[in-house]
Amino acid sequence: MLLITLNIFFTLTSSSTLTDFSTDQDALLAFKNAIIVDTNGVLSNSWLTNTSICDWNGVSCGIKHHRVTALNLSNFALHGKLTPHLGNLTFLQSLDISSNNFIGALPAELSKLRRLKQVNATSNNFTGEIPRGILTNMSLLEDIDLGFNQLSGELPSDICNNAPKLKRLFLSVNQIYGNIPRNIYKCSKMEELYLSRNNLTGMFINS
Ligand SMILES: *[C@@H]1O[C@H](CO)[C@@H](O)[C@H](O)[C@H]1NC(C)=O
Ligand SMILES: *[C@@H]1O[C@H](CO)[C@@H](O)[C@H](O)[C@H]1NC(C)=O
Ligand SMILES: *[C@@H]1O[C@H](CO)[C@@H](O)[C@H](O)[C@H]1NC(C)=O
Ligand SMILES: *[C@@H]1O[C@H](CO)[C@@H](O)[C@H](O)[C@H]1NC(C)=O
Ligand SMILES: *[C@@H]1O[C@H](CO)[C@@H](O)[C@H](O)[C@H]1NC(C)=O
Ligand SMILES: *[C@@H]1O[C@H](CO)[C@@H](O)[C@H](O)[C@H]1NC(C)=O
Ligand SMILES: *[C@@H]1O[C@H](CO)[C@@H](O)[C@H](O)[C@H]1NC(C)=O
Repeated sequence: MLLITLNIFFTLTSSSTLTDFSTDQDALLAFKNAIIVDTNGVLSNSWLTNTSICDWNGVSCGIKHHRVTALNLSNFALHGKLTPHLGNLTFLQSLDISSNNFIGALPAELSKLRRLKQVNATSNNFTGEIPRGILTNMSLLEDIDLGFNQLSGELPSDICNNAPKLKRLFLSVNQIYGNIPRNIYKCSKMEELYLSRNNLTGMFINS
């Protein structure tokens, strides 16, 4: 466990894309389709097209625009892959899919979610590399918890180049290897950084 506190200020930018309401429903239905086992029947009983997506279990919408702003499917006993269609939930701010049994890769399309503030995918069986954009180019992202998976690959050398708000990064218990990038000092708002139980080497050098 490592704890660093740094304070430099960056300006932030955000983009706004307006798409159709039905895009959110399509994305959620694609998500449901990629689930192999819905042990408790949460999606099969509640994610039905004769009700509004905003009433679906684990889905929260914005009051004004009725777009999906949060998905919380933590501990729903879901088994399957994460669909790239999630990247179409343009208004998503919070994604919590922790403590399920997701397999396969974290889709690169997640980094299309420009409003994302927190991602929690801890305690699943994700494999492959962490999508580079998530660690390098997310202007509002504050919390990332991808611990207790089987993620591999190296940390990007340009980590935090344009992720000025990143405060908490939990990557413990994975198979990430290589050097701790020097650029980690660009993560100027970092409060908690957990990298234990990986295959990382190197030192923290403040240059
Ligand atoms: C929606 O459809 C399901 C069956 O597909 C049915 O059990 C349920 O009562 C319907 N809900 C509403 C609000 O019509
Ligand atoms: C998701 O729901 C669980 C259980 O209700 C809760 O403990 C957790 O804090 C929620 N996650 C987020 C990001 O709000
Ligand atoms: C949503 O995303 C998928 C996969 O990233 C893409 O193929 C599809 O065209 C998108 N659909 C809409 C309605 O934007
Ligand atoms: C992620 O979710 C787990 C529960 O599934 C929780 O213990 C953990 O604190 C969450 N991580 C963050 C950064 O909130
Ligand atoms: C991950 O997969 C292993 C082997 O199939 C299984 O024993 C374990 O329970 C899975 N972990 C989670 C969090 O689902
Ligand atoms: C970073 O995000 C912007 C949108 O905010 C996008 O246009 C650009 O392609 C992204 N760059 C990388 C390297 O992902
Ligand atoms: C870490 O690297 C060692 C030596 O290359 C290898 O034997 C081990 O399996 C790796 N562990 C993980 C968790 O990737």
